[in-house]
Amino acid sequence: MTAAQVPPPAAAGEVHRVRALVGGAHMDGEGTFWTVDPYCQTPFAEVAQAGPRETAAAVAAARAAAAGAAASPARERAALLRRAAAAIEARSEALARTMARETGKAIRDARREVARCPATLELCAEEAVRIEGAHVPMEATDTGAGKLGVVLRFPLGVVAAITPYNAPLNLVCHKIGPALAAGNAVVLKPAVQASATVAALVEAFQAADLPDGWLNVIYGDAAGRHLVESPGIDAVSFTGSTAVGARIRAAVPLKPVVLELGGNGFTIVHHDADMEAAAGLCAANAMRLAGQSCISVQNVCVSRPVFERFAALLLTQVDRLKVGDPMDVDTDVGPVISEAAAEAITARVAAAAKTGAQILRGGGRKAALVEPTVLRLETARGPTFDEEVFGPVVNLVAYDDLCEPVSWVNGGRYGLQAGVFSGSLAVGMSLARALRVGGVILNGSSTWRSDQAPYGGVKDSGSGREGPRYAIRDMTEERFIVINH
Ligand code: SIN
Repeated sequence: MTAAQVPPPAAAGEVHRVRALVGGAHMDGEGTFWTVDPYCQTPFAEVAQAGPRETAAAVAAARAAAAGAAASPARERAALLRRAAAAIEARSEALARTMARETGKAIRDARREVARCPATLELCAEEAVRIEGAHVPMEATDTGAGKLGVVLRFPLGVVAAITPYNAPLNLVCHKIGPALAAGNAVVLKPAVQASATVAALVEAFQAADLPDGWLNVIYGDAAGRHLVESPGIDAVSFTGSTAVGARIRAAVPLKPVVLELGGNGFTIVHHDADMEAAAGLCAANAMRLAGQSCISVQNVCVSRPVFERFAALLLTQVDRLKVGDPMDVDTDVGPVISEAAAEAITARVAAAAKTGAQILRGGGRKAALVEPTVLRLETARGPTFDEEVFGPVVNLVAYDDLCEPVSWVNGGRYGLQAGVFSGSLAVGMSLARALRVGGVILNGSSTWRSDQAPYGGVKDSGSGREGPRYAIRDMTEERFIVINH
């Protein structure tokens, strides 16, 4: 079943209804679509699909609210974000369960993600009261003599936030938190597959006395296109695929755009590394969230003398993973977002096998459940290596000299994060300098994020950074002010 197919009402069971939030009021759309529980393959939520009319209304509501948001004292915006954090905390179990049902995220991971949301908003609240400017030393030139120059930061106005299904709540917090902290109004278009999950988060913001129009929410893929093309928005912050990111960049070439896009998760395991630790983290972080994370471990490059030992350790860990019902607390790997996504992942694995990859584990699927899959590659290329798989699939490839994995990372299209395992800090630091990516994790895998840290990529992995402090920089603009005295 796809989100577009409307099921018969009798099949709906526990049905959630989701409507747009525009200027503080709920709004119907030009039609509806359904989200689908990917494990049970049953309809989950009926969602109002925003068309051009609803999108224009959401942008107009944000525009009308933007001046008020910009003029509000920073400490009040910080207090609002803290109230929202508390409201999320109060609903945390319900949010986690909704997310697990609607997106298939294993309940332990869903709980972990929900627990990060209040922390992310607390960090945004702290940053709201620390948006600093700069003093420009005017006496450096004759033209500046006798003047005082300062640079202050101002909100951009209306930020369009477009978010994905794989971390549907914390990634929303990473966009609307900094936008509101900086004094912007927001129009949010979340991933269609996670509509009810995000609607439940938005209720927490409403319970926190969110002023009308500061946060407007519209649902449906077409709404995303209308939103980006709207002349009423001042900036876009997008997390999702590289293909869609490129289209957004092309649609608004002169507006600030933050793009957090795909990756193919390199981790380098040098011969002097702690093999047990490296294999354990690589196995868990390739398969967690069913591999649906931009920083999921996808390509593990292993020093040839330790390759066989590392592979055996990793396979032992993979064999222990429990695959199945996301609502079961013992489940490690739930379904991917849809059966169509599962089909695309296994087709890619089959294509890799045709070009010489050896399937050490997995390769199959049952509906949307994809078996944890481990491939051994003889050459560092192929359909599961070059492109983002976004599924529970990991490639193992041996190298003889460290310059090989460096050239594989730097020669590829992506550059999000990379992990390095080595007993030598000198090796780790030389790789950290050499790898052209947004972040390098020493003695850790590519899959690591802490919510205060700068997060984002280079090349086809995007531009700009998340992390409250860095996102606020991208969601404000500098203005130089000179005082003649
Ligand atoms: C992602 O970029 O895929 C999400 C990473 C995270 O915040 O855990």
